[in-house]
This record gives sequence, structure tokens and C-alpha cells, in this order.
Amino acid sequence: MYDFHPYFTNDGSTGLYSPEFNDIYHSASGALTEACEKFIKPSHIDYLLNNYQQIKVLDICYGIGYNTKSLLNYIFEKYDQRFGCPTDYYAQIHTDKAKDILSTNSDTIYTDNHKEQSKTNIGTVYTHNKFAGIIIKAIDNDENLFCLSPFIKTGEKDFAKHNLNIPCDKIHKYLTDSSPADCMKINNLVNYVILDNIVKQFPQIFANKEINSILSDKNLDCFFENDIRGIYRSLNNQDIHISLLRRLNSFLHNIYYRHVSNGYKRRLKGSILNDFILDFKCGDARKIISADSDKYHLIFLDAFTPSKCPCLWSLEFFKLLFEHMEPDGMLLTYSSSAAVRSAMIEAGFFIGNIFSPRENKFIGTAAVKNKTFIKYPLSESDLGLLKTRAGIFYRDPDLNGQNEAIIEQRNFEVKNSNLQSSSEYKRVNNL
Ligand SMILES: C[S@@+](CC[C@H](N)C(=O)[O-])C[C@H]1O[C@@H](n2cnc3c(N)ncnc32)[C@H](O)[C@@H]1O
Repeated sequence: MYDFHPYFTNDGSTGLYSPEFNDIYHSASGALTEACEKFIKPSHIDYLLNNYQQIKVLDICYGIGYNTKSLLNYIFEKYDQRFGCPTDYYAQIHTDKAKDILSTNSDTIYTDNHKEQSKTNIGTVYTHNKFAGIIIKAIDNDENLFCLSPFIKTGEKDFAKHNLNIPCDKIHKYLTDSSPADCMKINNLVNYVILDNIVKQFPQIFANKEINSILSDKNLDCFFENDIRGIYRSLNNQDIHISLLRRLNSFLHNIYYRHVSNGYKRRLKGSILNDFILDFKCGDARKIISADSDKYHLIFLDAFTPSKCPCLWSLEFFKLLFEHMEPDGMLLTYSSSAAVRSAMIEAGFFIGNIFSPRENKFIGTAAVKNKTFIKYPLSESDLGLLKTRAGIFYRDPDLNGQNEAIIEQRNFEVKNSNLQSSSEYKRVNNL
């Protein structure tokens, strides 16, 4: 049986626990908060939206998708602000797209102007003409996590009573915290977009016994979005031989008009779900990126910590990411480790800190090719630490080493190094 152990984190979003590592995938203080504060807010997404028609994003270690979802959520919210009055950018089309939607199995199409319209009176389908969209390539080596990602619940206010009995101190510490973080939620439209793409790219999801049994497990009920599960179930029960995907598109279209709040709908009016292209790639990130010819404006690196998964933090991996980044791109990660930072610099990046105004401290690293995007440069002491033994980076010369071997090689180098230790450096410099 697939190991799936969810718990609620302290902002009402769902986190995952790994019994294999006795560790958590997501910060117990708030999985969604973490994604927003470490990956979205510190990025230069507003600059990208203002300067590019098409933005390419690489989400390395997608997991259950918080970084991708937070980005989409942010962009959906921004739509109207970027383009101003809808008439500036909406081009009404009455022809091809409308016909396409009409030719699906759905009997009724919902639009902004009319609650319900018959097939013969579709009205207007909107699209906009300036923004060509976001392309997100999301990589993870666990297909089941991709498939579960659209269902994952956020925004649970009463989460303390739902938590399962997971033997992990990091989780319990936050469950007894008297001041929970602000409750955060991903709008379900984002989940619809993700489900749409998951079903297209992993049609085998319907026959996946593990996914189906997790989604129908009563004990796990509280961790899933009911609306999304409802869509999935109805699709699963239908005769899937005839144009399943077209029916899904039509279904999503209807759900969008029926269930999304008016305020949100106003902001999104004109957005066609296809503006957001998600390309899910299952496998080892090193192989997938080596075989990829695209360059990216944003790269999220959310691998397990360097001491557990060094293959995604090595010098060679950062060189690969450098090659795959646009000149004004930005890589963001939660890690501030000296070994990671020195590898980034050696690979050619300029690096800076990620600052959290909420916590009033630095919480990660941003790496760029264009220095002007660095908001919080490293301090003298940060830079000094990189020259100690702690700054000896992981090596993976052929980008196919095993994690254990990569760790062993680094330990050997650290042990035989003449460099100052980081603790000595801190003591001498009163840090
Ligand atoms: C900390 S979790 C990522 C959490 C994720 N960003 C989210 O929002 O849920 C790390 C992820 O790395 C994936 N992973 C581990 N080794 C990998 C590899 N070599 N290539 C691709 N993915 C890997 C795991 O399956 C896991 O989902």
C-alpha cells in the first residue's frame, strides 16, 4: 500500500509525513505559508508579468504542488490589476472556441452573462490577447503525488481535531501552538486547472487502485477537497471510451461558472483555462532536465534537505540549472546551507538571501544571472562561512550518483580538508 500520511499544518493546509525518513515534507508551521513566503513573494514574478507574454517556470520536486499552486493563485488574483479594465484586453470570440465547447457532451454551458444557456445560444466566450500564458514544467519522481495533488485540502480552520496520530515531534509542536498562522487557502479553480492537466497526462489515474483507495478512505476524508473529488468520481463512473477529456473540459467550464465566487470570477473573466499549461514530468530531476532544451524565468528548487537528497544540490546540478535559466531568470530555494550556496556561486550564479517580513529573518536563497535582481545580498559573515569546511559542496560528476555515495564523497573531502571549521569561524568572529 502506498505510504500516504497527511496531517494539517498550522495554517490549515495539508502536509505529508514520511515514515521512511521519520520526517515531514512540509513545514508544520504552514505548508502553504511556506510556499508563498519562500517561493512566490520573494520572486520577481511582477517584473516577469510586466515584461513577458509567456513565462516559463520549472518546479523541481513538485510533491503535492504547493509552489505551482501558490504561483497560479497569485497570478489569477493579479489578472485584473495587470491589465486594468477588462475591455483593454479581452477579445471576444464567437467562433472556434465556442464551437469547440459546444461539441462536447455537455448539454448546458454556463457563461458570465447567462446563468444557463442552451446549446444553440452559447453567447460569448472570452479570451484575452496580450498575455500568452504560463508554462510550468513540474518534476517529481513520485507519480502518485502528482495524481493526489489536485485533491489536497487547504483552508481548514478547525484542523487540530482532524490530525491523525503521527509520531513526529515537529508536527505535535505546532498542534499545541496557541497562536496558529493565518489560515490560507488555494482557490479551487487552481485545483481544477491541475486536475484537468493531471487527467490528460496521467489517464491511468482512473485505474490506479492506490489513488482510488486513498481518495475513498473515510479516515482521510478531511484532507481532500470535496468539489474536486466529486468531479473525479463522476468522471470515473462514466463511460470513458468516448472523449473523456473533452467532457472534462466542458465539465470544468461549467464548474467554473457555477462554483467560483463572483468577485473571483470578475477578475478571471476572460481567462481560458488553457492559458496555464502544466507539463508534469515523472522521474529523476537530473535526467529530465538534462534532456530538456527549454530555459526558464523561474526555477523552484524544493528537494529534501541536502543531507538527505544531495543529488539535487550538487555543483553539477546547479551548473545544469544555470544552463536552463533565462538571463533574467531567478532560482529560489528554502536552503541557506553553505555547501549549497558555494555550489551555486561556483556554477556561475549571483546569490542573495530570501527575507521573511513576517518572521523578520532570512529564510532561503535566491540565485540569479543578473545581479540587479538581488534584494538582500549576503553579509560578510555569510560569505566567510562559504570559505569554511561547511562550504565544501556536493559533487555528482555524471549526474547519476546515488545519494549515499555523494554524501560519502563529501564527508571524505570535509574530513581531509585544511579549511577552518564553521564553528571555529563563528567563534573567532563572535557570530
Ligand atoms: C520536500 S518534498 C517537495 C514538496 C513540494 N514542493 C510540495 O509542494 O508538496 C520533496 C520531493 O522531492 C521528490 N524527489 C526526491 N528525489 C527526487 C529526484 N531525484 N528527482 C525528482 N524528485 C525527487 C519527492 O518525491 C518529494 O515529493
